[in-house]
Amino acid sequence: MGAVYEKRFAWGVLFRLFHWAFALAIVFLVTTGFYIHFPWSNSVIEGSRSFPVAEMRYIHFVAGFVFIAAVLTRLYLWFFGNRQEKIWDCAPITPSNIKDFFSTLAYYLYLKSENEPRLGHHTLAGAVYIVTIGLAFFQIVSGLWMLYPESVFWQKWGVAIFATQAQARLIHYLLTWYFIIFTCIHLYILIWNDIMEPEGLISSIFTGRKFFHKGALK
Ligand code: HEM
Ligand code: HEM
Repeated sequence: MGAVYEKRFAWGVLFRLFHWAFALAIVFLVTTGFYIHFPWSNSVIEGSRSFPVAEMRYIHFVAGFVFIAAVLTRLYLWFFGNRQEKIWDCAPITPSNIKDFFSTLAYYLYLKSENEPRLGHHTLAGAVYIVTIGLAFFQIVSGLWMLYPESVFWQKWGVAIFATQAQARLIHYLLTWYFIIFTCIHLYILIWNDIMEPEGLISSIFTGRKFFHKGALK
């Protein structure tokens, strides 16, 4: 007889919309951002036959505002989302979450052969996601300061955090690499999990539902 599974609801529709807005925005931001950093096409045509740099910047800013909306949505869900979506469900702040953090780490390092399933994020993933949203904040402030250099509001924030525009731009560029590395590790772990566990983790970000061996979820 085959194994018996139960299907459980984990992620609401707003959470899933946030995820895909965030992920897609980042794909556009990284690509156009690298073009702004180093316009690799022949920029001699700029302003004569076409405006590649201006167009890339425009796409960057549109994606930038999608990114900002996604981050604000996630902040809202941290406090007003369902149980799994709330920040304290996945932050390593309670004894059981701290235990899950180290247990998941040991599992990923092949030091343990099994890990207790969770309906929401494992705490290790949750902690990384919280750091990611935290770094998104710096990306947003540096981006808005570069976009509106004359705004007194963004000047105040920009100077307080980055001191100079040149430093804001450098940090904006360096953080781009964080998002690229995050994406690579994210995809690796998702596929690894999909192979090792019965959850159907990848489809859960489309359907909001995960699978568990009957009775395995505490
Ligand atoms: C085909 C591509 C992708 C798939 C299938 C996918 C799938 C998933 C899944 C299943 C989760 C929940 C995992 C868990 O429970 O721990 C998740 C979370 C997350 N993903 Fe992705 N992802 C993709 C691409 C991306 C990209 C490109 C980014 C942005 C760099 C991204 C950012 C995030 C973030 C920030 C979270 C955590 C959400 C939160 O709770 O705040 N994902 N993703
Ligand atoms: C994950 C999110 C983001 C990534 C990966 C990203 C990436 C980049 C990169 C690589 C550059 C080029 C920096 C350089 O010249 O060295 C850049 C420039 C810039 N970004 Fe972003 N960015 C992001 C979010 C944002 C946001 C939210 C905004 C604000 C709406 C923004 C506004 C800008 C501006 C104004 C510039 C300078 C454009 C110029 O010099 O012509 N970025 N970005």
